[in-house]
Amino acid sequence: MKTWLFLACLLLWACKPETTPSCTDADALYAAADFPIGVAVDAGELRANPVYEAITRKQFNSITPENVMKAAYIQPERGFFDWEATDSLLAYSKRHGKRLHGHTLVWHQQLPAWMDVFEGDAAAWDQLLKTHIQTIVGRYKNDILSWDVVNEAFLEDGSLRNSLWLQKLGPSYIEKAFRYAREVAPDALLFYNDYNLESNAAKLNSVLKLLNALRNRGVRVDGIGVQMHVSIAYPEPAQIAKAFQQISTEQYRVHVSELDVSVNPFGRDLEPNAKIWQQQADLLGAIVLHYCQIPQQLQFGITLWGVSDQNSWIRYFYQRADYPLLYDDQYQPKPAYCKMKELL
Ligand code: G3I
Repeated sequence: MKTWLFLACLLLWACKPETTPSCTDADALYAAADFPIGVAVDAGELRANPVYEAITRKQFNSITPENVMKAAYIQPERGFFDWEATDSLLAYSKRHGKRLHGHTLVWHQQLPAWMDVFEGDAAAWDQLLKTHIQTIVGRYKNDILSWDVVNEAFLEDGSLRNSLWLQKLGPSYIEKAFRYAREVAPDALLFYNDYNLESNAAKLNSVLKLLNALRNRGVRVDGIGVQMHVSIAYPEPAQIAKAFQQISTEQYRVHVSELDVSVNPFGRDLEPNAKIWQQQADLLGAIVLHYCQIPQQLQFGITLWGVSDQNSWIRYFYQRADYPLLYDDQYQPKPAYCKMKELL
């Protein structure tokens, strides 16, 4: 090649924004890891979108139902449980050798309308809680071996959220929930799941204090779901490392349970560019490296909260342009995907 042509090509290459990843997704992400790599799956999308389905099948070995196991969907009427979507996700998981992680039994959101207006005394609410948990866990006890039992019970200041459950049953609803789940699934792994635990020490301390108190009373909670809806602006990797260490020192399994890395946390006008992709990949890389430091027996896995950017809850929830996942809108792997694979 002529020297001038070579130099021109070199210049072009050097100036080109690195929006294209430096790897392919021909091999599975999960095959690179010593622990499960999961994804939150929208049951409808899985059925209707072959590209989405193929990525789910090829790249991940653990599945968390994004919505269909939440109370509003699974018990839409009092005493009527709609198993269809969960059954079909379970059949899919079995067919392809994936772990199915149960999400979530007790939460303040996505409650069915009937529950919101249910009138009853504390005993009736207790029975409602027990029936909800034990009917679901009981049905799937041989197939779903891990559960987010209680989700997001704490506020940012470390106090308990004033949820319907707290109002009706008082703080003991958390202990009750774990006891009821354990009664029907003695060997399952039971998790407490929450957000900002990697960045808010007060919140994490409150969670650990509660779980340790339960442990002292013989109520075993096996792990903590650290959701990790993080962003390129925060938190610092050192905070993440500290949280992982604190949780594992207390002998709880760590599930990075809902990982996404927002590139537009402040909702500005945004054209993603090479720098942003790199920042996203770097933070994800730091998370992976710190996760790998956790003792192996406490690594439950890392779960991404969605397949591609176009499937992310962030866009419709916050109504902003964002690109928080491993695959782009065209279902192509992003630099973040490559970084994760490289460091696993
Ligand atoms: O099912 C209805 C559909 O019938 C209707 O046509 C459509 C119109 O908006 O809404 C559909 O429901 C939506 C549902 O997702 C299923 O797509 C809800 O509006 C929407 O609010 C709901 O959002 C979910 C959100 O939880 C609820 O707060 C997200 O998909 C889901 O990713 C998100 O996940 C939570 C975790 O479970 C717990 N941690 C936080 C995380 C993010 O919020």
